[in-house]
Amino acid sequence: VSHRNDIDDHQQRGRRSGGTHADRTNRQKFVVLTEPALRRRPLEPVGDELRKALLIVTDYVCAVVDQLPMQSVTDFGGVQKLLADTVLRRMPQEDGRPLGELIELIDRAAAKGINTANGGLFGFVPGGGLVSAGIADLIADVLNRFTGQSTPAPGLVALETDILRWMSELFCLPTEARGILTTGTSMATLSALITARTSLLPNDFLRGVMYVTNQTHAHVAKAARLLGFLPEAVRIVGCDERQRMDPGALHAAVVADKAKGLLPFFVVASAGTTNTGAVDPMSAIADVAVIDGLWMHVDAAYGGFFQLTNRGKQRLRGVELADSIALDPHKGLFLPFGTGCLLVRNGQLLREAHSGGDPDYLQDLQGSPLPDFSDYGPELTRDFRGLRVWLPLHLHGVEAFRSALNEKLDLAQLAYEKLSAVSELIMLEPPDLSIIGFRMNSQAVAGGHDTAAGDEATAELLRRINAEGRVMLSSTRLSGRLVVRMCVLHHRADEAKVEEAIDAIQRHAADLRLDQFAATP
Ligand SMILES: Cc1ncc(COP(=O)(O)O)c(C=O)c1O
Repeated sequence: VSHRNDIDDHQQRGRRSGGTHADRTNRQKFVVLTEPALRRRPLEPVGDELRKALLIVTDYVCAVVDQLPMQSVTDFGGVQKLLADTVLRRMPQEDGRPLGELIELIDRAAAKGINTANGGLFGFVPGGGLVSAGIADLIADVLNRFTGQSTPAPGLVALETDILRWMSELFCLPTEARGILTTGTSMATLSALITARTSLLPNDFLRGVMYVTNQTHAHVAKAARLLGFLPEAVRIVGCDERQRMDPGALHAAVVADKAKGLLPFFVVASAGTTNTGAVDPMSAIADVAVIDGLWMHVDAAYGGFFQLTNRGKQRLRGVELADSIALDPHKGLFLPFGTGCLLVRNGQLLREAHSGGDPDYLQDLQGSPLPDFSDYGPELTRDFRGLRVWLPLHLHGVEAFRSALNEKLDLAQLAYEKLSAVSELIMLEPPDLSIIGFRMNSQAVAGGHDTAAGDEATAELLRRINAEGRVMLSSTRLSGRLVVRMCVLHHRADEAKVEEAIDAIQRHAADLRLDQFAATP
């Protein structure tokens, strides 16, 4: 503000004194040449100031990564205190604060909850967070090019288009396939459903019916609800004993619905369910889809990138027949949260469902041979998320990802075999991919077949393992029974971490049995 006043004073003085032509020229020169130097530009650190800020960030990022192995996976102690911390929760002030101080606050805020960057995370579907993707994000944000359309950033849109083509080729989709990077599978499925609805159902779509199993991830029913379908439009098809969709039951359900005058149009096959990693029989489902005129969507959020491995390719057989595939690079490519993908076999249908209605003020942005991403999804302005996928794949090479995914398949198998030898546990089936499930053997803890006792013991087993903080597992329910899940997918989950998890499970299962016998009169 004081600099601004200096300039104004100078102009005022010049105006009052009138001045010659030469004075005015000098005055203009003075103002033009010195104003930028005089005025502080706090929003635009440059030179050494910028370098210093980036070094502070570099030091912090390195410290975060270095400390991960020593840290607990979870910390829920003192959350109330953290949330009540008035320094942390302070509203932005008129004056800025030093970056180092702010990073300390960020670190304090991140300390509580689940440390999803920690390789000890085996619960849910673990996230990764490759640092190289963070580097890509920094670059993408500083470049800040507009990639919603291709004309403003043709080279960068080309990089993102190439990544989408690479993914299409990975799943052997035809050259007319197109796709879009989304924030996750929920958004990808929403667009897949919009595309199928637009191409297969009349405008009045309420007679449309879609088919899932009780193992299908809940985001499908949510997408249906958000699009205006009624709850009964989502049919639950039966599974076999390994939680995989029964294609015969699918066909029977479609026939019954057609007889009622309904319009079956969409089936979701899971390429790895969240609960158990079960892979639906995609080739057989594709056959039914062709016969019955259904759009086959594959939820490959968790399992899709195992396609990079030979074993994965065998287990995901039939995925190449899909009309659309939803993928989560923020799972199977270990990228940061907010990185999903939709691939559509007939790319024109994806475009037709999402394009149109461009505002007049964008009429000058025409004439690029590349796709305008705003025509392939709901967003116009978007972050340049392509770089977050492109840079790690090119920097580390595809083989690094393949080998990491092979390691996860091996480690899940190792855990399954070792835990199968633990007498206190009942194992689910061997893993299709990298999720294993088990529960306490109620006979070991209660001397009988009491389901409630088995559930209680299983819950207690999970509580004790997680309380140690070295690893974290999570639970689900299968056929009404509580089951502990161990999902090996984190890029930092190495053999030592998996052994640590196995050790904790074994120890606590044995302790629980001893506690039980000690408590028995
Ligand atoms: C199999 C499966 N599908 C879909 C989703 C939802 O994906 P997102 O959270 O990326 O929207 C998940 C999330 O864990 C999942 O495991």
